[in-house]
Amino acid sequence: VKIIYIEPDGSERPIEVEEGRSVMEGAVANGIRGIVAECGGACSCATCHAYIDAAWAETVGAPAGDEAEMLDFAYERAPGSRLTCQIEVTDALEGLRVRIPEKQG
Ligand code: FES
Repeated sequence: VKIIYIEPDGSERPIEVEEGRSVMEGAVANGIRGIVAECGGACSCATCHAYIDAAWAETVGAPAGDEAEMLDFAYERAPGSRLTCQIEVTDALEGLRVRIPEKQG
């Protein structure tokens, strides 16, 4: 599944991520800059924060309970904010655009 990561400097990095992995895992495995993922995907660090492109908001959905709370610790939370470790890659996300913030935490 192709996920397009937009790094903090604006570089677009289209990456093939296996279905069932998280958007965070796809970033870390491919050296995408700006995703730190300190807790390794446990939804307890907020350093995998990124912005989902507005066109994708509905498909990806809103953050659930724990994630919504953790997002309060994210740097510059905005309407498209999600913790990327909580987004599972599926076929429906082909072409998803995810913008990574300038910094984490
Ligand atoms: Fe820690 Fe996502 S990796 S909250």
